[in-house]
Amino acid sequence: MHTQVGIIGCGPAGLLAAHLLHRAGIHSVILESRSRAEVEETIRAGMLEQWVVDLLNRLGLGERMMREAQFHEGITLQWDDQRLHLPLTELTNGKRVTIYAQHEVLKDLIAARLADGGEILFNVADTALHGIESQAPSISFRRDKLGDPETLHCDYILGADGFHGPSRQAIPNRVEYEKVYPFGWLGILCHAPLSHHELIYANNPRGFALLTTRTPAIQRMYIQVDATDRIANWSDDRIWAELQARLAHPDWTLHQGEIFQKSIIPLRSFVCGTMQHGRLFLAGDSAHIVPPTGAKGLNLAAADVVVLCRALEAKYKHNSGEALARYSETVLRRVWKGERFSWYMTTMLHNNDHESSFERQVHVAELDYVRTSRAAATALAENYVGLDFDA
Ligand code: DHB
Repeated sequence: MHTQVGIIGCGPAGLLAAHLLHRAGIHSVILESRSRAEVEETIRAGMLEQWVVDLLNRLGLGERMMREAQFHEGITLQWDDQRLHLPLTELTNGKRVTIYAQHEVLKDLIAARLADGGEILFNVADTALHGIESQAPSISFRRDKLGDPETLHCDYILGADGFHGPSRQAIPNRVEYEKVYPFGWLGILCHAPLSHHELIYANNPRGFALLTTRTPAIQRMYIQVDATDRIANWSDDRIWAELQARLAHPDWTLHQGEIFQKSIIPLRSFVCGTMQHGRLFLAGDSAHIVPPTGAKGLNLAAADVVVLCRALEAKYKHNSGEALARYSETVLRRVWKGERFSWYMTTMLHNNDHESSFERQVHVAELDYVRTSRAAATALAENYVGLDFDA
């Protein structure tokens, strides 16, 4: 088998890359270790920056999103018994955020790719990269977990296989940066009506809480829990008691309903400062992880592949390798701004037992600064809705 770009991973980065490459007349094949159902059912965050929505629409991939998503023009920050409405759209010359679950984006991208005749091999096993420093890299794998070993010969490899995939490990002498937070998020999905017209990020003495949504009838909520806590320790009643306590506000009701999904995720910041090596290019979670606060993961992954696909197009169409050679350097500038913002939101809004009372007061001062300064509010808003693409 031969393809121009062998893509490892059928997440947002791999799939969007396959679409962008197809539009540029570049052939690709996606290899994915999970089943299609697993990919389409894994619950992740659900917020798209304005430019991502615009891009999906330009590519003809946004039809269901525009019908089913919710569009928000602000967010609410809550601390010390007060709520602050941050008018995102007013502060950012008309940009809004779109609430549409990541797995719904994936369903749309997979269906459209297959309808275009694109090749996606699900359920592959033993994926390994070879010859990335040569002119003829390849990926070995087995189909349907137990098939005979096969080889996908490529011009280039896109490693979009997440934090635990083999791609990053194939880069020698890489520089890595990591910060692990001493807390996790317990996330739920429930059948309940909307309680508020926009997301609420609450900094509470009991810990952080986030109210978000999926549809008018399905709500998503998160609470900060201990990093080592287990979901078995959290009955539905205990979860509701914490959500009610942390989100409480006078003359406001948090609507409850049947919880049909709950899980705990750890929070970490991670950057691989070496996002390319020879003919291998990393994108998305294989190269960088953000804590979920601010929902930047998918958006950063999308930005990576936009830059990469432009560079590959320049190489194939004009034999210009300059942008490709600078890929890592170019995308890391945006990645680090996403890391900074996610870290800022996380530290400002969570209770961290390892922090001093001094730092806690600084977080309250930061929130108060956002309340009292249009410049501070604008800085938060422009990061939240997504920085200008070439920033
Ligand atoms: C969602 C998750 C986030 O981490 C966030 O900051 C906003 C929204 C979500 O799942 O909807």
